[in-house]
Amino acid sequence: MAVPDSPTANSLGRLPIPIWAGPGVFITVALAVLVFFWWFLSSPAAGPENQALQEKTLREQLAPVGKMLVTKAGAQVNTANVSVDGEAVYQSACAVCHATGIAGAPQLGDQDLWRGRVAAGPQALYGNAINGFQGATGIMPPRGGNAALGEAQVRAAVDYMLAALE
Ligand code: HEC
Repeated sequence: MAVPDSPTANSLGRLPIPIWAGPGVFITVALAVLVFFWWFLSSPAAGPENQALQEKTLREQLAPVGKMLVTKAGAQVNTANVSVDGEAVYQSACAVCHATGIAGAPQLGDQDLWRGRVAAGPQALYGNAINGFQGATGIMPPRGGNAALGEAQVRAAVDYMLAALE
C-alpha cells in the first residue's frame, strides 16, 4: 500500500521543514540582538551620561581617605580636646634628637640622663619642652623646632618619653 504524501514533505524526499521555520529563526535572532543591545546600553559602564555617575561613585569611594587626611591635618593645629598619640608625635618631631642623644639631648629610656630632669616634675618638663631651654648639655628648641605642634601634643610626647623610663 502506497504511503500517502505528507503535506509538508517535498518531492525530493528531504526531511520535512515546517513553513514557519524561516521566520521563526529570524525572529529569534532579532530578539536576541535586541536583548543584547538593551542590556549593553543599560549597563552602567556605557553611555556618556553614566560618566558623571562613575565619577560620583569614585568620589564616594575616595571620600574616607580625604576625611582621614583632613583629620590628621586638623590635629596639627587643634591643641585642645584631642586625644593625642604621644608616640606618633615623638617619632615625627622628637626622635631625630632624642633617639640617639644627638646634640646633648637626653636619650629615650636612659634612666641616668633623665633622673635629675624627672625629679623636677612633669610640669617643668612640659614647660621646657614647649618653650624650649638651654641646659648644661645643649639646646632644646621650643616644641622640638616644630611650631605647628600644639601644647597637648608636646605634653603627650613628653609623657611618652617619661613612660619609656619605667
Ligand atoms: C634639635 C634636637 C631636639 C629635638 C628635635 C627635641 N629635643 Fe628635647 N632636648 C634636646 C636637648 C639638647 C635637650 C637637653 C638640653 C639640656 O638639658 O641641656 C632636650 C631636653 C628635653 C627634655 C628635658 C627637659 C628638662 O627640663 O630637662 C624634654 C622633656 C624634651 N627635650 C622633650 C622633647 C620633645 C617632647 C620633643 C619633640 C616635640 C623634643 N624634645 C625634641 C634636643 C631636642
